[in-house]
Amino acid sequence: MYETAGCNLIVAVGGGSPMDCAKAIGIVASHDRDIEEFEGVDMVEYPIPPLICVPTTAGSSADVSQFAIIADTNRRTKMAIVSKAVVPDAALIDPQTLTTLTPYQVACTGMDALTHAIEAYVSTAHSPITDLHALEAIRLITANLPGAVESPSSLDYQGAMMLASLEAGLAFSNAILGAVHAMAHSMGGYLDLPHGECNAILLTGVVAFNYAACPERYDRIAETMGLDLSGLTASARAELLVEKIASLREQVGILPTVGRLGVKKNDIPRLAEFAMQDACMATNPAAMNKREIEMIYEAVL
Ligand SMILES: [Fe+2]
Repeated sequence: MYETAGCNLIVAVGGGSPMDCAKAIGIVASHDRDIEEFEGVDMVEYPIPPLICVPTTAGSSADVSQFAIIADTNRRTKMAIVSKAVVPDAALIDPQTLTTLTPYQVACTGMDALTHAIEAYVSTAHSPITDLHALEAIRLITANLPGAVESPSSLDYQGAMMLASLEAGLAFSNAILGAVHAMAHSMGGYLDLPHGECNAILLTGVVAFNYAACPERYDRIAETMGLDLSGLTASARAELLVEKIASLREQVGILPTVGRLGVKKNDIPRLAEFAMQDACMATNPAAMNKREIEMIYEAVL
């Protein structure tokens, strides 16, 4: 349609999927090649047409990120395309667009933003600037997500969530993500599940696994979420953070398991295989083998 109508720019209005779709349309329009050829990091050769994004969820941050996540319906997984070429030219951000979301959409997209901030903060590619944005996003989400879920029409809560999502986006677009996203892309692509819901369920298992790789970073996250860690051993500190994330997830109404969403034990080796190949796995703070990934999936069945 872009070519037939002789377009010269793209405006995307919506959540992560429409915005990522717009990025993919831009890539295909400027290269005239199949989108599958651009999977991975820095595979986009030429600039895409001017792209303006208007986000209508506070979660994906596709309006500021160098990510485009595209469902590959043949392989039943999600491809991660990571390239500076897909960073939009302008993001028009207004929390008014959030006020008609359902509480469950607010919950899932908000937990996605929290996952962005946490994964960016512990990423092996983090930096002092991305750290600032990540911690501020974690603080804002902890303080405002339950209220935003309870009253989606509140501009105070939604304004704070929109800002949090933007800050999380600035952090993860530069620091990249980790195992939660790698595993959520694999699971969401296989069974067509909501991205934020997958992250919300997988986050605690990955935090528990990763904690020992960078305890001081996870402790900082815990303190930013309002926890007092004084006098606690490392394992007690890890447990307290996992409990805090689980209680936030529970408070916003997301159940902790995936069996009810259609994930079966037999699917797990395949899910782990695809998660290992996802571009987001490269910056996870702890190395994970296939069996370790399988165990995290098994624990949330
Ligand atoms: Fe995400």
